[in-house]
Amino acid sequence: FIKHLSAAVNRKILTVSLFTKSRQYVTGNIAKDLRMDVKQLSARKARIDTEDSSKRYCDVNLNTGDLIVAETIDREELCGSRMSCILNYELVLENPLEVHRIILQIQDINDNAPRFPNERIHLEITESAVKGQKFRLDEAHDTDIGQNSINSYSLEKNKHFVLNVHDTADGGKYAELVLEKELDREQQKEIDMILTATDGGSPQRSGTAVIHITVLDANDNVPVFSESVYKVTLAENTPSGTEIIRVSATDADEGPNGEVTYEFSRMSEKTAKLFSIDKTTGQIVVAGEIDYEKDKKYEMGIQAKDASGLASTAKIILDVTDVNDNSPRIILKSLNKPLPENSEPGTEVGIINAQDKDSGENRQIRCSVQQNVPFKLNPSVKNYFSLVTTKALDREKESDYNITITATDGGSPPLSTSLTINLLISDVNDNPPVFEQQSYSAYISENNKPGTSVCSVSANDPDWRQNGTVLYSLVPSEVNGVQVSSFLSINGDTGVIHAVRSFDYEQFRNFTVKAVARDNGSPPLSSNVTVKVFITDENDNSPQILYPVPDGKSLMTEMVPKATLSGSLVSKVIAVDADSGQNAWLSYQIVKSTDPGLFSIGLHSGEIKTQRDISESDNMKQNLVISVKDNGQPSLSTTCAVNLLISDNLSEVPELKDMTYEDSNSKLTSYLIIALVSVSTFFLTFIILIVAVKFCHRRKPRLLFDGAVAVPSTNLPPNYAEVDGAGTLRSSYNYDTYLTTGSRTSDFKFITDTSGEGFSYPTLVNEFI
Ligand SMILES: *[C@@H]1O[C@H](CO)[C@@H](O)[C@H](O)[C@H]1NC(C)=O
Ligand SMILES: *[C@@H]1O[C@H](CO)[C@@H](O)[C@H](O)[C@H]1NC(C)=O
Ligand SMILES: *[C@@H]1O[C@H](CO)[C@@H](O)[C@H](O)[C@H]1NC(C)=O
Repeated sequence: FIKHLSAAVNRKILTVSLFTKSRQYVTGNIAKDLRMDVKQLSARKARIDTEDSSKRYCDVNLNTGDLIVAETIDREELCGSRMSCILNYELVLENPLEVHRIILQIQDINDNAPRFPNERIHLEITESAVKGQKFRLDEAHDTDIGQNSINSYSLEKNKHFVLNVHDTADGGKYAELVLEKELDREQQKEIDMILTATDGGSPQRSGTAVIHITVLDANDNVPVFSESVYKVTLAENTPSGTEIIRVSATDADEGPNGEVTYEFSRMSEKTAKLFSIDKTTGQIVVAGEIDYEKDKKYEMGIQAKDASGLASTAKIILDVTDVNDNSPRIILKSLNKPLPENSEPGTEVGIINAQDKDSGENRQIRCSVQQNVPFKLNPSVKNYFSLVTTKALDREKESDYNITITATDGGSPPLSTSLTINLLISDVNDNPPVFEQQSYSAYISENNKPGTSVCSVSANDPDWRQNGTVLYSLVPSEVNGVQVSSFLSINGDTGVIHAVRSFDYEQFRNFTVKAVARDNGSPPLSSNVTVKVFITDENDNSPQILYPVPDGKSLMTEMVPKATLSGSLVSKVIAVDADSGQNAWLSYQIVKSTDPGLFSIGLHSGEIKTQRDISESDNMKQNLVISVKDNGQPSLSTTCAVNLLISDNLSEVPELKDMTYEDSNSKLTSYLIIALVSVSTFFLTFIILIVAVKFCHRRKPRLLFDGAVAVPSTNLPPNYAEVDGAGTLRSSYNYDTYLTTGSRTSDFKFITDTSGEGFSYPTLVNEFI
């Protein structure tokens, strides 16, 4: 029976399904299974007992015999994950006691959805993860079992991942993400995907979780420069510290991987000194002297690096632009030095080259010479210039030139340079010596000592050195038939003319020589000048008494009529002096007289006149001693005696014989004296006649005797000659007067007998002619 029941109950159990969860659910009919009348059930107090005191989920409907679910049954609660879930009950019947075993097998229904332990699954995956890398995901759980537990996983469609599902050892399933396409943080930093787990129940249930993937950075980006080639222009001379450019490179990585530092990579050592780069900012500044003339272009490599050393490079091409910072340079290539003064205009003096290190306009050079020099620059090929003269030169006017050449470039502002060339002009013997005077006059007093300097001539020659060295000489000639060299000599160097011998004014008074000044050039140039030598007089001759014949040797005695009135001319002393001028300017004085006060003598005329009327008491014989003195310094003088006889008749004179010439030791002399006296008397008479005639004309009764006396000129110096014209002083020193003067008409001319006999006859000139 129990066996039967058991079988029966077993059957019934199998009909219990998921739906037993609901109360009053009929799972079987016990009455039918036990083939018992329903009424008997209640009669026999059928009831269900549990073996242990656990909860009773079933009950028997006594009215129908149905086995019903008394309490909601949850398989998951009762059995968890156990595959078989059996509840054991006993059906107890009384009267008779019968116990039947009821095995209630609980079957699962899909009443639970799969569940993930976390609704969000956080994953951190580096972007460097390679394809095929797997990431295990949390397993989802479903409390149902069997078919109703996790059956599969699915992943939201995405670009990077696919899903692999694996069984676990305990029959579960888990999924793993498989990277199918590499990640790139720089493109997508985070990825969200929905993972769905589904069970195998019907209807199917599912649970989801969000997979949140954070893509971790990997240093997979190199810094990138904004340009691969930076082109910069920079003016030369840019001061140190000036920013040229700021380069920048960006690195898509983050953190240290994205921190960029800059440095120069590839550059010459020379360039490295000129520029510096800021490691962090990429600012490139000038650090040295930029000189266009040294380098026109620089190339630098720059490198940007991130923290872990990923680097990239770029290039900077820097063009230096010219600045007009170089003055032109003037180079004297050649100079013909010194330049002869006779160079033709247009003669090339030198060659000049001008240079400028700058370029373009800045090296266009203009060259010029200052205005006031006779030079100019002729442009030639390629900044070469020839310096030529523009006009004739004269060393004597300008012996050197400072030629200033100025070169100016075409920059803005322009720069210029000057070069001063000192050009010496060399001498050519083109100037003859020139005497300082057109003619020279020299005065030398007679009786000079030989060797006395007469005068000095001087000539100038402006030429240089020997071309201007003057040598003096005298032109050979003759003076009065004598070589001039026996009169004068000249110092060839100084031009001082010396007398070679002593001169005598009375012999000749002047002569002319020619002096030559010659320079030492080759050929020499010369000029000449006339030197007139005047010999000046010295008082070396004392006066000579012509009348009365001196030394008392004269037989002559002047007759003075007794009736002579005061002021009458009674006689005249005639004296000459071979000297001239003051030295021949004679003055007369009575130094001794018989009767002082009776006669006076004209100081310069030599005329002896009565001072008072002659009276009877006067001594008949009157003697006068007269001194004749010239005006020289010191003066020379001569004396003579004049005998006067106051008488009307020669016969009255008793001592006449006494007065005759006693010492006639020579017959010839006596005859000569007689002849002379006769002639003199004749002339005197003649003159008295003329004077009388003149006197009548002029009605000057007091003058008995006014006039010129002609006297024999015995013992005159041989060259006592060359007198001309009326007795005026012709020049301060050159007197031609020679006779006593003071009387208006006392002009005489002696015709000299040059025969040498020393004997001549005076000729009355003026009045006769
Ligand atoms: C030229 O210059 C020199 C030196 O400065 C100077 O001695 C000379 O007198 C100058 N010459 C002229 C002609 O200016
Ligand atoms: C003098 O002049 C000549 C040309 O007449 C010249 O050759 C010479 O060099 C000059 N002498 C001096 C010292 O200047
Ligand atoms: C003196 O100079 C003149 C012209 O200056 C010349 O004709 C004459 O020949 C010269 N005489 C001598 C002796 O040199």
